[in-house]
Amino acid sequence: MKIKRIFKWTFLIIFVALILLFEFAYWTSKSNCDELVGAAGDRMKAYVRCDYGVADTLKLTEIAKPVSKDNQVLVRVRGTSINPYDWHMMRGTPYLMRLGVGLRKPASAQLGVDFGGTVEAVGKNVTQFKPGDEVFGGREGAFAEYVCVAEKNLALKPANISFEQAGSIQIAAHTALQGLRNKGNIQPGQKVLINGASGGVGTFAVQLRKIMGAEVTGVCSGRNVEMVKSLGADNVIDYTKEDFARRPERYDLILDNVPNHPLSEIRNILTPTGRYVMIGGGGPDEGKWIGPFGRVIHMILLKPVSKQPLTMMMAETNQNDMKYLASLMEQDKLKVVIDKTYKFADLPAAISYVEQGHARGKVAITVD
Ligand SMILES: NC(=O)c1ccc[n+]([C@@H]2O[C@H](COP(=O)([O-])OP(=O)(O)OC[C@H]3O[C@@H](n4cnc5c(N)ncnc54)[C@H](OP(=O)(O)O)[C@@H]3O)[C@@H](O)[C@H]2O)c1
Repeated sequence: MKIKRIFKWTFLIIFVALILLFEFAYWTSKSNCDELVGAAGDRMKAYVRCDYGVADTLKLTEIAKPVSKDNQVLVRVRGTSINPYDWHMMRGTPYLMRLGVGLRKPASAQLGVDFGGTVEAVGKNVTQFKPGDEVFGGREGAFAEYVCVAEKNLALKPANISFEQAGSIQIAAHTALQGLRNKGNIQPGQKVLINGASGGVGTFAVQLRKIMGAEVTGVCSGRNVEMVKSLGADNVIDYTKEDFARRPERYDLILDNVPNHPLSEIRNILTPTGRYVMIGGGGPDEGKWIGPFGRVIHMILLKPVSKQPLTMMMAETNQNDMKYLASLMEQDKLKVVIDKTYKFADLPAAISYVEQGHARGKVAITVD
């Protein structure tokens, strides 16, 4: 009886302490936006938001220009692009991710990742780049005139692509490459289905699978069928007319940018040892609390009983992959499909467009 009471009170005290801790962390969570806007020194134009919200919360303003450290490169951004990641960060959804990026307010006021640009200055330990080099890469805060970036997160821009195209490579092309090769373990001759073949990740994935020698089926809406075919898809399914999960074909790998089918249906159309790589996390109105993590837990629970590897992936910056992607572009084997290009002043409108979930390739921004 006494032990029961001790357990009860211990549990209650821990529970209340956790709630108070959470409340404290919530109300003391701060954004660095005032610091950025108020800092002295050289200035640059950048998008800043002090709170989570829709695209209107983004303000084009002047903030302190970054200064490169010894191992960093200062890049003048000339082109950037929008990824669904940007609206996730802008809205702070799914809310679960706020545990890492700021509970009540975004800890980092800047947004954007992908960029293409020109090296303006290098730190004294930088060996691979020099002022004037044209480069591309990824760095938080890329919706700005300048970024400071470690040299391992940079590669030389292929001469035959624009800054807007270079600024459209980082997240989408890395995801396509690493999803097919690292997580998907794609082999020549295998059958691959790419759900969401016409967006940023999908247009790279369709082309890359061709380079890797697999047979690809792309899924997109009718207006994009010809575009996906022209990128090298062997078969294209128009999802407005036919459900790919109801067809008799079996696939060795499914790369899922739009996880809109239950795992049971996905497993039915995989070969007995076929792989499923979940990439997408849904739109702004889906899964606001935990996003794709419910599906991830489902995949973990199925692991002991399934011979079909079911995984989620998070793309990682890798300089060798960047050089590989650049070399394919130099040889005209891989192209960056640009849907629309917006002016820097219209960047919030570009985010709203991508939020609708029907971009045809990448949505780029000219930073001038
Ligand atoms: N895990 C990671 O590391 C990682 C990295 C990058 C992206 N992502 C996620 O992957 C997803 C795709 O990214 P993205 O950059 O390719 O997005 P995107 O450029 O916005 O493309 C979305 C595409 O989805 C297609 N689509 C919409 N509804 C569909 C449906 N019912 N069936 C099939 N296709 C449909 C659209 O084609 P239609 O216009 O033809 O409908 C559009 O082309 C996003 O959820 C993003 O957050 C994850």
